[in-house]
Amino acid sequence: MTLDDVGKCVAPGAGDTDWNALYFILGLVLMPIALPFVVMECCYRLRIKKYRNELAGKVVLITGASSGLGESMAHTFYKAGCKVILAARRTQELERVKTDLMALDASSVTYPPVIMSLDLSDLKEIPAFGHRALGVYNQIDILVNNGGISVRATAESSDLDVDLKVMVVNYFGSVALTKAILPSMIQRKTGHICFISSVQGKFSLPYRSAYSASKHALQAFADSLRSEVANKGVQVTCISPGYIRTKLSMNALTGDGKTYGKMDKTTALGMAPKKVSERILNAILGKEKDVMISDLQAKFAYYLRYLCPSFYFWIMENRARRLEKEEAIEQKKAK
Ligand SMILES: NC(=O)c1ccc[n+]([C@@H]2O[C@H](COP(=O)([O-])OP(=O)(O)OC[C@H]3O[C@@H](n4cnc5c(N)ncnc54)[C@H](OP(=O)(O)O)[C@@H]3O)[C@@H](O)[C@H]2O)c1
Repeated sequence: MTLDDVGKCVAPGAGDTDWNALYFILGLVLMPIALPFVVMECCYRLRIKKYRNELAGKVVLITGASSGLGESMAHTFYKAGCKVILAARRTQELERVKTDLMALDASSVTYPPVIMSLDLSDLKEIPAFGHRALGVYNQIDILVNNGGISVRATAESSDLDVDLKVMVVNYFGSVALTKAILPSMIQRKTGHICFISSVQGKFSLPYRSAYSASKHALQAFADSLRSEVANKGVQVTCISPGYIRTKLSMNALTGDGKTYGKMDKTTALGMAPKKVSERILNAILGKEKDVMISDLQAKFAYYLRYLCPSFYFWIMENRARRLEKEEAIEQKKAK
């Protein structure tokens, strides 16, 4: 091969020049669109970094910390140097979470987690629980209302007691705890209340009427509260996640109040709890008001529900029919 041949190999042909021109034009057009997003992302990251430094030593009360997303948030806040108070009914599971946290090789200063027994369905006990929780460090900086249960049944086949239970745990329990903690935050003119709702607080699915209703109620409560406390130094964030890989479906109730006990395919294929809890931490740090953490399908369903409701209802009717068929097949197999 002569030197001339080498030159021929590397020299751009006429076709390459066309592509280069196309890339140049595309870059020219897309740059002004992309630039504001890049600047916004950089500002967001800088803001989060600044607030993250201020997080150490903050008192964070997390409900439903004995498993799933709550357990993962316990890890995230603990590793960020927060004083975590973990609440749920199963105190032995909270002990396990505490032991796991204490065994972590954290790079920064950490505080031993405090565990407290809490039953969100025992509304009368919640003010006293709130008082005790406030007494641990004399303040609560961040309250994460996460504890909750789901349901797997049609509206028709659900006992009213099941609807009531889901509503009490998911909605009234969180509302009662918020009311118990809020006055101290208002008095100190600082604090953050975070509600873990669901994408089902934005749009409803078949076989989830009580769950969707409770999450819609939580979203509405959060929205009203946010506006009321905005000038009192208290922040409110409502998080609406899509499917997360937890035991939510295993722990869900059936229409007659039994435990469903099965892992749904959608839940098994859901987001990793760690990823969601880190996004929640950033949402709290960034004082974000309303955050959907989900795949594109859930986001599409959300917009479809409001922009083209009849199409959304048609999809849901088909989904309900499919679920009904699947249920019939399962019942046949069980016989
Ligand atoms: N997994 C998902 O796909 C998904 C999607 C969107 C939103 N969410 C929401 O995320 C939150 C956490 O659920 P998860 O997915 O982590 O499910 P999970 O693993 O079943 O955890 C639920 C937590 O709630 C607690 N809880 C249930 N009933 C309670 C009661 N009566 N009093 C106090 N605590 C109670 C449980 O603790 P004890 O049993 O020890 O009391 C447990 O720690 C829920 O609000 C759920 O609606 C989950």
